[in-house]
Amino acid sequence: MAAKAQFSRRRFFSTAAALLGGWPFLSRLQGGRAVAPTVQRRGTQLVVSSANGLEAAKTTYRLMSRGSDTLEAAISGVNLVENDPDDMSVGYGGLPNEDGVVELDSAVMHGPTHKAGAVAALQNIKNPSRVAQLVLETTDHVLLVGKGALRFAKANGFKEEELLTKKSRERWLKWKRDLSRRDDWLSDDEEDRGIARKVARPTGTIHVAAMNSDGDISCVTTTSGLAWKIPGRVGDSPIIGAGLYVDNAIGSCGSTGRGEANLQNLCCFAAVELMRTGLAPEEAGLEVLRRVASHTTEKRLLDDQGRPNFGLKFYLIAKDGRYAGATMWGPSKFAVADRRGTRLEECAVLYQREN
Ligand code: GLY
Repeated sequence: MAAKAQFSRRRFFSTAAALLGGWPFLSRLQGGRAVAPTVQRRGTQLVVSSANGLEAAKTTYRLMSRGSDTLEAAISGVNLVENDPDDMSVGYGGLPNEDGVVELDSAVMHGPTHKAGAVAALQNIKNPSRVAQLVLETTDHVLLVGKGALRFAKANGFKEEELLTKKSRERWLKWKRDLSRRDDWLSDDEEDRGIARKVARPTGTIHVAAMNSDGDISCVTTTSGLAWKIPGRVGDSPIIGAGLYVDNAIGSCGSTGRGEANLQNLCCFAAVELMRTGLAPEEAGLEVLRRVASHTTEKRLLDDQGRPNFGLKFYLIAKDGRYAGATMWGPSKFAVADRRGTRLEECAVLYQREN
């Protein structure tokens, strides 16, 4: 029995080492074990968000100060942006898929219970984060998609409504008028493959993470996803470990930007695991971005210096109260709310734009 346990442990660590091969944090493994950072409970109440979440961060912080649960506070924060017709990357007024239909993705994760809920490709419901919260609270499932997610939302009393606004319809019609090879169907011709990527394709999203003074952490990510996407495309936002991840003993990470890159690297899970080994939030975010860059090899996704030509950002909280934003391309900001107020701060940058 003891021999079997020893074998399993050895196998676990060699498998882990193989999976993590080449990562700098391997040097932080002590005696073959990943070492968790020292937890210093400072009673820090903190909210971190993507830059479009300044008001959301403020609201989340205020609600937590009044005793609201971290997840409830964070969802209330992002609801402001989901309901805002002028934010064309999230909820109502979000940019549609190639058929002109708005499809929303969202995930929520509650640190204290380590439970998650998510919806993907949800149509006609303004607040996918609230539907994701109900998946977490009232089902044994984590992710509902498409028609099933809509049926679930309607069964729970959510009202179906048209999410395309006049403004987002006009943007979609302009894209259709300009349409040539600029879509997501990759040409057989290698030279044509880069065209879709050279056209501005909004992938705005909001992420809010909240830590209360007990050190409990929850977070939410919500989006209308990539504009003009192939119907049914699901991005990173509703995927646990990609669009967001929390380990209540370690910290949290959430993401905005090119979902496909994040899905291929499961970045938020990786970043939290890096923090577990002792990396600061900023170092963990940059290290995951480096990994994405090294895994990006297709010509259409690279600039003339071989760097990824897309944006990707992470928003990180460590249990001891440290936090960071980290971006593939800077300068770029993220939102913070704490006892010093609500503000935008600079992200740590992997590649700096020249102008
Ligand atoms: N990160 C948002 C998306 O790609 O859908």
